[in-house]
Amino acid sequence: MLFALGLGEEQVHWTRKHLLGLEGVTRDEILTVLDTAAIFREILERPVKKVPTLRGVTIANLFFEASTRTRMSFELAEKRLSADTLNFSASTSSVKKGETLRDTARNIEAMKVDMVVMRHGSPGAPHFLADHLDASIINAGDGPHEHPTQALLDIFTMREKVGPLAGKRVTIVGDILHSRVARSDVWGLRALGAEVTLCGPRTLMPAQAESLGVAVETDLVAAIRDADVVNILRIQKERQSGSFLPTLREYTELFGLDARRLAHLRPDAIVMHPGPINRGVELSPDVADGERSVILDQVTNGVAVRMAVIYLVSRVRATEQAEDSQLLEGVSV
Ligand code: CP
Repeated sequence: MLFALGLGEEQVHWTRKHLLGLEGVTRDEILTVLDTAAIFREILERPVKKVPTLRGVTIANLFFEASTRTRMSFELAEKRLSADTLNFSASTSSVKKGETLRDTARNIEAMKVDMVVMRHGSPGAPHFLADHLDASIINAGDGPHEHPTQALLDIFTMREKVGPLAGKRVTIVGDILHSRVARSDVWGLRALGAEVTLCGPRTLMPAQAESLGVAVETDLVAAIRDADVVNILRIQKERQSGSFLPTLREYTELFGLDARRLAHLRPDAIVMHPGPINRGVELSPDVADGERSVILDQVTNGVAVRMAVIYLVSRVRATEQAEDSQLLEGVSV
């Protein structure tokens, strides 16, 4: 049984049992997450930051790839909602003995887990779990495919800092090809009517990127000059199997954001980065820590946004379970 949050039914446009990606997620659904997150964001400023909303709900965090922000943020969000949490790290588990993803997940579900938050190196791994488990699945990053909660916290932070996103200009700079954040950001921002420009070397730009409804620019200054938001991505050395860049130094010279290039931004434009930062590569330390930077606000907002996603998904699951027990009440044995 979920405790009510105080949102009117007419304000809640969310019927998804899973959050696997932002592709296909509607404007109303995204606004529901943002508005729910705004309530949790206020709660996180109170002396007592915890609510009883998810008492009795058990959530497993399955991380098959390294993470600092996403993993801690999900765990904190779950605890703030009073859920019971289990943490699983592939490097210290029986995955090391050859256990498959499906067997790992089914064993965890056999312990009566209601929800699984998963990060995995393979695109589609959360979709696979959603097909094979009864638990709700939240994608915490699947290879280069999607990172929906990162995009939602990015969008929450953009709305907080620059206002409603319809017509706002957002430039995403960097390794677009390998970036699950860029992909999810584009789906979410387009759904809200933002104008998105992708900027980076051609070798790190997906083929036919324009088909996503975005502009593509290879000149950094041209890409950031009129932007309301500049979101700088990490160069993902771990996903670059080919020679996508001659050298990191050349990348920094052409696409690194430093104080000299920052001077081309509008005075009210903000700088974002999902983290972790390669300091001195895609972002100079003075810009990362400067007054335009909202990078730590993104991290703070991430907890509230993840609380919102977990709450909304749990609400759907609780409704389904209530309907199932009502059906069972009508069955005589
Ligand atoms: N932004 C992000 O996903 O960071 P982590 O890899 O530390 O979770």
